[in-house]
Amino acid sequence: GLTVHTDPNTLRRVTKALRGGGRRVTLVPTMGALHDGHRELMRRARSIPGSTTVVSIFVNPRQFGPTEDFGRYPRAFEADLDMCREEGVELVFAPEVDTMYPAGFTTGIDPGPLGDQLEGAARPGHFAGMLTVVNKLFAITVPDVAFFGEKDWQQLALIRRMVRDLDIDVHVVGVPTVRERDGLARSSRNAYLDELQRQQAVTISAALSAGQYAGEQGPEAVVAAAREVLAAEPALDVDYVELRDPDLGPTPTIGDARLLIAARLGTTRLIDNAHVSVT
Ligand code: PAJ
Repeated sequence: GLTVHTDPNTLRRVTKALRGGGRRVTLVPTMGALHDGHRELMRRARSIPGSTTVVSIFVNPRQFGPTEDFGRYPRAFEADLDMCREEGVELVFAPEVDTMYPAGFTTGIDPGPLGDQLEGAARPGHFAGMLTVVNKLFAITVPDVAFFGEKDWQQLALIRRMVRDLDIDVHVVGVPTVRERDGLARSSRNAYLDELQRQQAVTISAALSAGQYAGEQGPEAVVAAAREVLAAEPALDVDYVELRDPDLGPTPTIGDARLLIAARLGTTRLIDNAHVSVT
């Protein structure tokens, strides 16, 4: 059966007892409005032998800017619990905002320079808020393994770095992006798109594919090929197209690289990324 916990101390006691009994604890942090991308994370977590999986559902206000969509972010708690049950998840952690951030809360995690680039340039404070809540979820759950999607590549890179830099004893697993049949990356924010925008949105994954094919012509060709595809859809307001090394350090000239795209359709901001082999 599925148990929902809202109190951090109760969940901490439960996971501590599980670990004491020799079970491993796996964690899948989410903001709810669960879709097939989240489902894949749960399946990976459930596949760890001898493990009990915690799914956290918490729309974290600290990672939304003042003009962003915190208030209208999709919430579907009962449907989320149904998916957790379908996937055999035993524990859900769904705290209230005031529980996570009581009056007087001031401490936060500084992401360092990468926190101000790419998504961080468009969303000041986003990654500090994200890392702060992920750190709290780690401290409450004390997971052996935690699962995050490659869909949010910069988020995954920053979490890996935090775990290394702050000596957190957790194994971070990145899960490949789950896509719709036409290539669009699954996202809770896809719910904001109207029918026409939904069709236009496929241009982003098409641009990533074009970039992948241009890999053998060098890094500049990769970015140019992706930009050319994006330019063919005037409804897309492109924020960035960048080719970086997989850790999001300086642009690589050769080898494994990551192509990252952010674009807006109306008021909806979409991000996606893909591996590119640059020769
Ligand atoms: P959320 O957007 O709900 O995503 C939860 C997890 O699901 C993240 O690790 C995200 O990368 C992953 N995910 C989303 N779409 C995916 C897809 N199409 N394929 C594979 N994985 C996908 O990301 C967050 O919440 C928050 O920032 C969080 C980490 C929970 C901290 O608040």
